This record gives sequence, structure tokens and C-alpha cells, in this order.
Amino acid sequence: MQLSTKHLIGIKELSKEDIILILQTANNFKEVLQRPVKKVPSLRDVTIVNLFYENSTRTRISFELAEKRLGADTINFSASSSSAAKGETLLDTVNNILSMKVDMVVMRHAASGAAHFLAQHLPNTAIVNAGDGTNEHPTQALLDAFSIQEKLGSLAGKKIVLVGDIMHSRVALSNIYLLKKMDAEVMVAGPPTLIPKYIEEALGVKVEYNLQKALEWCDVANVLRIQLERQKKVLFSTLREYNLSYGVTKKMLESVGKEIVIMHPGPMNRGVEIDSDVADGKNSIILNQVENGVAVRMAVLYLLAERVKVDDLK
Ligand code: CP
Repeated sequence: MQLSTKHLIGIKELSKEDIILILQTANNFKEVLQRPVKKVPSLRDVTIVNLFYENSTRTRISFELAEKRLGADTINFSASSSSAAKGETLLDTVNNILSMKVDMVVMRHAASGAAHFLAQHLPNTAIVNAGDGTNEHPTQALLDAFSIQEKLGSLAGKKIVLVGDIMHSRVALSNIYLLKKMDAEVMVAGPPTLIPKYIEEALGVKVEYNLQKALEWCDVANVLRIQLERQKKVLFSTLREYNLSYGVTKKMLESVGKEIVIMHPGPMNRGVEIDSDVADGKNSIILNQVENGVAVRMAVLYLLAERVKVDDLK
């Protein structure tokens, strides 16, 4: 089996079969990561550059760890300490790096469409999107799906609510594409100012402005960060008021009266979209998500490298 695509730009471009293949392969790599020797030589002789034009903790470390566990050579690039700060274009930077015989590019960028742009200009290099603006964060959605599947056994028929700043969230869009392809039921919940108009018709999700009702409906609540850095105008009164209406709190979960799996992609604003006793509570799988990120990213890198090998033989 191989992926239908040679890049991972977004979940939108993946088939259901691609998603199943990635999740199954991640399961195999998760088993490798439980062994005393957590390394396999699958990407020996493959060189990968991690290009981060935007801050990251989890995604960056997780990709680097995944690459090392697969035996790849890695290079880390941070825009703030590079010649990008002197005005070099994205394409010039990447072409210069590729001239040093780099095989794959993992990139996070603040501009929506940046990964697609690279894939168009560099069709022979595997490009992996590690988050582009407000567009997609495909490996986050894959690790979220892996974590739900691990906890609940399957995705089909499960009710998942994405809570909070849907408008600015690439995690939300990638999750919606993935969960719908895998036959889960998806709802978005939050204030009307943070939910795009017509999302119900455009993406086939339910919309709920009352958090309590959303939590009563769901099996899983994936709580999203309020992205103040992307909000160009005032979209709610104060963080305190946001917490009172849309913060996932222990009191609210107790009033719902059933067990709900709690997720968050990180970084968390504790006391804003999620309270500490929920984030650290018994139904939280937030750190499992982070752990699973390594196996999922190993799967993505391995499968893309296999796809490149097949293409080279043609
Ligand atoms: N979830 C996520 O993308 O976290 P980072 O921004 O720390 O990579």
C-alpha cells in the first residue's frame, strides 16, 4: 500500500484509504516506540529540513524526534536566526537548502497556502505541512484521530465537538476534513463571532452556540486555543467573560453528567478556554496526543519516503 499523494499539504487532499494507512502505520511505529531501542533505520540516507517560520514547541520537537527515530539526517531552520530576516524569499531559501541535497521539507509558516506554494514550485521534493496560517495542520488532525481511536476504539459514529476559536484554527479545519472522511459526527461550538458563517453548509458540521448543549451531545470535546495573535478585531469582550461562557470547567462537566474525553492541541490558555482541573483531569488525553504525535509523524515521513522511492523507479 502507498499514499495517493507525494506531499502532505492538507487532509483535504487525502483519501479515506490514505488516512487509514497512516493511522495503521502509526500504530506499528507506536509499538516500536515502546521497545528499549526506539529506533528503526527506515530513513537512513534521507535528509530532512525542518523549516519553522512560526513558533512551535510540540510539532517541531515531535517531527525532529520522529526523524531521528527513523534514522534520518535532520537540519533545523528557524526564520528568526536565518537570512529570511535579511529579506530572502521563501523559494530562494528552500532552493538554497535543496542544493545541499536535502530530500524532504517539513514547514510551518504563518501564510495560509505556503506549503501548497512550495509543492507547486518543487514538485520533486516531498513537502510536509506542519501548519500554514489559518488553513491546515494535517499532522495534528492525524494525531488527534489516532488518539480518539486509541481511546474509543474507532472514529465512525463518534460525536466530536471542536470548541472555541474555529474561525482562526487550522487544527479545526484539518480535524473537520479528517473526521468527516472517517464517518464521525462533527460539531463546532463557540461564540458566533468565532465561528465562520455558512460552515454548516460548506463543511457539513453541526453548529452550537451553547457550550453546555454541545457537551451534552458529544463523546469527545477537542478544546481549541483562543488565537489572540490572529484576531484582527475585538471578537469577544474579555478573557474572563469568555471563560465564563465558553471555558470548559469542572463545574460544567459535572453538570453534563456523563464522561467526555477531553483533548487540546496545545499550547493551552489555562483559565481561558480550559480550566486546569479539566486539562489535568482523569478524562484528559492531552499528553497522550503529544506522545502519539511522534508515531504519527514517523508514519507520515516513512510513507512519503516510500512513495518517492516508487516514483523514482517509474
Ligand atoms: N499543536 C501545536 O501545533 O503545537 P505547537 O504550536 O507547539 O507546535
